[in-house]
Amino acid sequence: MRIGVPKETAASEKRVATVPDVVEKLVKLGFSVAVESGAGDAANFADDTYRAAGAEIVPAAAQLWAESDIVFKVRAPSPDEVGLLREGGTLISFIWPAQNPELMQQLAARKATVLAIDSLPRQLSRAQKMDALTSMAGISGYRAVIEAANAFGRFFNGQITAAGKIPPAKVFIAGAGVAGLAAIGTAANLGAIVRANDTRAEVADQVVSLGGEFVKVDYEEEGSGGGGYAKVMSEGFQQAQREMYAKQAKDADIIITTALIPGKPAPKLITAEMVRSMKPGSVIVDMAGEQGGNCELTVPGEAVVRHGVTIIGYTDLVSRLAKQSSTLYSTNLLRVTEELCKTKDGVINVNFEDDAIRGLTVIKDGSITWPPPPLKLPAPPAAKPAAAVPAAAKKGHGHGGSGEPMSAGSLATVFGIGALAFLLVGLYAPASFLAHFTVFVLACFVGYMVVWNVTPSLHTPLMSVTNAISSIIAIGALVQVAPPLAGGGVDRPNALILALAVFALALTAVNMFGGFAVTRRMLAMFRK
Ligand code: NAI
Repeated sequence: MRIGVPKETAASEKRVATVPDVVEKLVKLGFSVAVESGAGDAANFADDTYRAAGAEIVPAAAQLWAESDIVFKVRAPSPDEVGLLREGGTLISFIWPAQNPELMQQLAARKATVLAIDSLPRQLSRAQKMDALTSMAGISGYRAVIEAANAFGRFFNGQITAAGKIPPAKVFIAGAGVAGLAAIGTAANLGAIVRANDTRAEVADQVVSLGGEFVKVDYEEEGSGGGGYAKVMSEGFQQAQREMYAKQAKDADIIITTALIPGKPAPKLITAEMVRSMKPGSVIVDMAGEQGGNCELTVPGEAVVRHGVTIIGYTDLVSRLAKQSSTLYSTNLLRVTEELCKTKDGVINVNFEDDAIRGLTVIKDGSITWPPPPLKLPAPPAAKPAAAVPAAAKKGHGHGGSGEPMSAGSLATVFGIGALAFLLVGLYAPASFLAHFTVFVLACFVGYMVVWNVTPSLHTPLMSVTNAISSIIAIGALVQVAPPLAGGGVDRPNALILALAVFALALTAVNMFGGFAVTRRMLAMFRK
């Protein structure tokens, strides 16, 4: 089949649906690829690089659409483009079926099969590689910080210079979804003090792991609306949230808002009054501009100055990193194509047995198949009822502490039995055993205390490092191997012991180097 990639026609859209590297991979899957001349220009992919990758360059859009079995696009097609789509053809692009019922009707009338990349069931872990919403949101979060830095008249990081001390910029991020988290990581990496808030409390750990501080709203309400998304909060919560945001606005130099609720207008989080309270020269980047904006004073698509504060409402943040976003988007489309063409023979099969493909397909052969039936996901493990742990039990335990402490009576009994066992061992065991036994007991005690006080999230790296350390067995093996190497009057061990010792050395070397290597990789994940 032939895949066609037209030039995007929407104003200020610089992305292209397929990049030359991906063309090569599509050709390997058995497809022929045609690209409209100049389609990649705005993203810095020239016609020649497409040609070199195996694509045919087609001069006019009409010809490209007419000759393609499958069309890859970024933005939902305009009515003109729908008219160009071949009857019975396939289109893969952003569609937003809930917001574009008319477009859906027009596409259905073309008897098309349409896969809407925005309708991917993101809950499926195997769908992650196809998740263009996530890859695009990550880019826009990054770009939002860059836009803010550009409009902000100071450094992000604090510095001590001969000319004086410069305080770090304070950045507040409203909404810590994919875009918000990317913004937190970018701003923190630039050295700013980053605070963030989200109605979904479960993101607090993610905020902290990216170098931010999670600021809670002083009001108890669960903010999760299912599927990883937020819901509209109660009036009481919104009031408490406004009070907290008002305080943050006074303190912050930069506010980046990313708060969205699927199918609803963006929540208004930053009022005109809050903007007025900000320091002159501050910056707001409102990433929710297209959905009405999180700030009352945002002008979608523009940067305006209100009360001395620059409010950036650009709706093309992703397009401002066109090369990067085209590369990621086209990789997402490649993964979709791989799922559609498991036979690698250049023919797609829109298989409704596949949950990911079912979710993506909003029109099949002219019939509207959106919304898809609810996904049958494995039930999450039942939440354990919160154990009523006495306040005293919680105190005094390290991070790993859990369970009830022993009563003084049982503690005394355990110690008594232990002391008696030691006495018996001391009286009857050979002296050499006693020395080893004492070391063993002390080792158990020290090991237990160390593990108990390590944060649970670090238990896996801890296990791998102790695994590496346990390779102390190497010393025993070396002692056995050493005499023949040292020579000079020391008894040679017999051949079997020597062979076993060499074998133990080889095994333990794997354990040692492997253990340390794995620990290093795991700890790297915890570092900024
Ligand atoms: P989004 O773009 O719809 O929303 C952005 C953020 O705004 C969300 O974190 C939301 O909780 C927050 N928000 C909404 N109303 C708010 C308010 N009034 N105040 C403060 N914050 C508010 O969501 P996005 O970024 O596309 O995804 C949201 C989450 O879903 C992410 O954390 C992501 O990790 C998760 N996700 C889950 C998947 C799954 O397997 N279930 C798949 C893909 C994403």
